[in-house]
Amino acid sequence: MERVQAVRGMNDILPDAVHWWQKVETTAREVLELYGYREIRTPLVEKLELFARSIGESTDIVEKEMYAFPDRKGQWLALRPEATASVVRAFIEHNLHADPLARKFYTIGPMFRHERPQKGRYRQFHQIDAEVFGIDDPLMDAEVMIMLCDFLQRLGLKDIGLHVNSLGCPECRPRFREKLKAFLQNRSPQLCPDCDRRRHVNPLRVFDCKVDRCREALTDAPELAQYLCEACRRHFDKVLEYLSDLHVAYAVDSRMVRGLDYYMRTTFEVITDRLGAQNAVGGGGRYDGLMRDLGGPDLPGIGFAIGMERLILLLQQKEAWVSKKPQVFIAVLGDEAVRQAFRLAQDLRAHGVAAELAHGGGSLKSQMRRADKLGVAHVVIVGEEELARGVVVVRHMVSKEQDQVPLENTVQFLMTVSTVGSL
Ligand code: HAM
Repeated sequence: MERVQAVRGMNDILPDAVHWWQKVETTAREVLELYGYREIRTPLVEKLELFARSIGESTDIVEKEMYAFPDRKGQWLALRPEATASVVRAFIEHNLHADPLARKFYTIGPMFRHERPQKGRYRQFHQIDAEVFGIDDPLMDAEVMIMLCDFLQRLGLKDIGLHVNSLGCPECRPRFREKLKAFLQNRSPQLCPDCDRRRHVNPLRVFDCKVDRCREALTDAPELAQYLCEACRRHFDKVLEYLSDLHVAYAVDSRMVRGLDYYMRTTFEVITDRLGAQNAVGGGGRYDGLMRDLGGPDLPGIGFAIGMERLILLLQQKEAWVSKKPQVFIAVLGDEAVRQAFRLAQDLRAHGVAAELAHGGGSLKSQMRRADKLGVAHVVIVGEEELARGVVVVRHMVSKEQDQVPLENTVQFLMTVSTVGSL
């Protein structure tokens, strides 16, 4: 029979890997809550229009990568390619600005982009996403980046670079756009067809292009930093000052434009050289006009998202996971013994001892082989003959010694054997 396989680029997370996910999620929640973020969960499906209006019609995400489809009534929907637009929509829809506590949000979950799958790039991937509304102080830009670095450090990831840039604002960016347009006009024959088209509608997007000849064409392109207005320059300088005050290392990267149109002023990415082409572990920035553009109050916003798959690839490179083993294996000989063994297993678990019960019987030899594979420190052998005398046999797997222990003392005995406690 032909097998049905998972959709390309969408992965199962198997029990052997799931520890990493739990560790990352637990650490994320701890850190986010320390900084005052509260969890919000939004649907995986939204109206297509939400993403088109926020991320931008001429971005790769909206033009090429969305899972978009009409529902049965002909309404266009999309699987969310990111979380920012959804969190902003929910904030507006539920009038959360009326609540003074509702400023910092986080959400963790799957996103969908129809990209070409490769290591670190998938079609269903997961993000830890954080958003702050209503605060335009450069201090918040710094705090958001510092929290991101704090989180990575707590996971033990130290060699990750923080790249920062300012994309200016509706005051100063148009001047830069015009300069860039003029520059790109001269380079037109060198550009790929996508960039040649985009240089008219959204010239900043050419900086996202991965095609070599476009990259070469841009080597002496004008730099945004030189066109920032006074207010943007001051804002950016303050952000950098605050980062330096807290000894956070960063590099200013004036070519980093990010792949989404809603950004203005501060943008940032955390970059690694250990993941090949997919070098951005996370990224974000300020998006002060977005809430207004989506029909909400004119509140500023800033946030970031971390790619969980990329983060976990890095963690796995760093250390092997030592998975928790059962501490005790209970071998059973005879039908009557099964019921006692079952009770004993529950009793051990109730006392915090991880116990694995032999299911399906088999010879003692085969049960011991299984215990060996599991790597337990002790095996309790529950046999009918011993039970008749009110005892069980406890075998110490390292020394190979055995003890006869009264059944009613077994839990106590196992809890006091030192190796059980130290596992
Ligand atoms: P983004 O840069 O598009 O930003 O995505 C953030 C992170 O998600 C990336 O740095 C990467 O680690 C991960 N990621 C993106 N696409 C994939 C993929 N196909 N496979 C695996 N991982 C991927 C955003 O999504 C913004 N919403 C971030 C933000 C929040 N800005 C403000 N607030």
